[in-house]
Amino acid sequence: MENQVKKAEGKLGILIPGLGAVASTLIAGLATINKGLAKPIGSISQMSTIRLGKRTENRNPLIKDFVPLANLKDIVFGGWDIYEDNVYEAASNARVLEQTQLDLVREELESIKPMKAVFDRDFVKNLDGTHVKTGTRRELAYAVIEDIQNFKQVNGCDRIVVLWCGSTEKYIEECEVFSSLINFERGLDEDDKRISPSMVYAYAAIKSGVPFVNGAPNLTCDIPALIELSILAEVPIAGKDFKTGQTLMKTIIAPGLQARALGVSGWFSTNILGNRDGYVLDRPENFKSKEVTKLGVLEEIFDAEKNPDLYSDLYHKIRINYYPPHGDSKESWDNIDIFGWLGYKMQIKVNFLCRDSILAAPVALDLALFIDLAKRAGMYGIQEWLSFYLKSPQTAPGLPPEHDIFKQLIKLQNTLRHIMGEDLITHLGLDYYQELVDSM
Ligand SMILES: NC(=O)c1ccc[n+]([C@@H]2O[C@H](COP(=O)([O-])OP(=O)(O)OC[C@H]3O[C@@H](n4cnc5c(N)ncnc54)[C@H](O)[C@@H]3O)[C@@H](O)[C@H]2O)c1
Repeated sequence: MENQVKKAEGKLGILIPGLGAVASTLIAGLATINKGLAKPIGSISQMSTIRLGKRTENRNPLIKDFVPLANLKDIVFGGWDIYEDNVYEAASNARVLEQTQLDLVREELESIKPMKAVFDRDFVKNLDGTHVKTGTRRELAYAVIEDIQNFKQVNGCDRIVVLWCGSTEKYIEECEVFSSLINFERGLDEDDKRISPSMVYAYAAIKSGVPFVNGAPNLTCDIPALIELSILAEVPIAGKDFKTGQTLMKTIIAPGLQARALGVSGWFSTNILGNRDGYVLDRPENFKSKEVTKLGVLEEIFDAEKNPDLYSDLYHKIRINYYPPHGDSKESWDNIDIFGWLGYKMQIKVNFLCRDSILAAPVALDLALFIDLAKRAGMYGIQEWLSFYLKSPQTAPGLPPEHDIFKQLIKLQNTLRHIMGEDLITHLGLDYYQELVDSM
């Protein structure tokens, strides 16, 4: 495959529906990093190495030196929002980064002004921005396609990716209009109100041949119609929901307990956060979208069906409360009731004082860089290898997702090796000992 990977030449445009906390932290962060004032901490594409060949070969390049990724200096940002704030204003309102830090890149941030959004308040009742497009779903999709083309031309971009960082839309379930491309396109023509705004962006991106990533829990591109389109148009897609904060911790701790055959009878997770995301999630129909993506994680890792003695009684509860004084500094508490030898009970308490968007920004960056790589490597449809970054990874219909972060990392690294024509690493390691035997 290596020879087939097109080089990352020219500029990469990252277009973001939803220029809020995550997006502005990503954009301001990259501007700061490109000025040499900080390092891209948390981004494995930039900071991590990858082992190639045998352990004794000592080949451990940085991932960014191993696979052809867009150079951070070649990235241009744009996006849409329902509010007119430029990215400097959005970042200042989000209050994730210090004002003095934002001021160092003020000019770059001020120059990024959102395009008018595709919005339907029925999907996010707690917001009421007016910087929005009008028209039927079909007209809106055409308008976004035009936005993408214009942006590409005006900014001289070689390639574009679209990354949904918009608010969490209300919970919806699969229905007929999502079931096939033909039904979906009829729905666009008929302005079917079941089609959410995020689906309109996803459709427009994929139709334009542009990779699409969904950083929120909404269904968006996780419907048969858009999977079909992504295959027909040969466009890579990935989702859902950036894996940060509490779920990141869960997918680190749970595989460890499961690996040591320790039982778990209860896992109570509560969060408080005070940013706009928290305000949107304060409505039950929007929280439901989040709850569904968060709940699946433990079920899959513990797999009570295969391990009934350890996990069949697991009680898993998640709460998120809006608490303005904390802003973007989310605080989460986990109480984990576990049991060991002879059923003796123990407890683990985790109190994570995280910064949500500080954890999300490098995830968003890596997803954009890797989905662009996937496209250049000729990969299309669902990119499950990016599940490492996602709370509720999109998989082939009927295929259970893998949530264990360590297995997800192996999958990601092996996919990079595969793309570059390197041997996959199984971690079996018997060959080292065979060599020892042979040498005697
Ligand atoms: N912050 C995190 O760490 C984190 C982690 C995982 C997932 N997420 C998800 O990422 C998304 C963004 O989070 P955030 O903290 O940046 O939220 P935010 O509220 O700060 O930003 C979201 C932005 O989207 C805009 N928006 C809403 N609907 C839109 C539409 N139809 N078109 C264009 N813009 C629209 C809002 O006006 C807002 O500016 C949320 O869905 C959130 O659940 C965030």
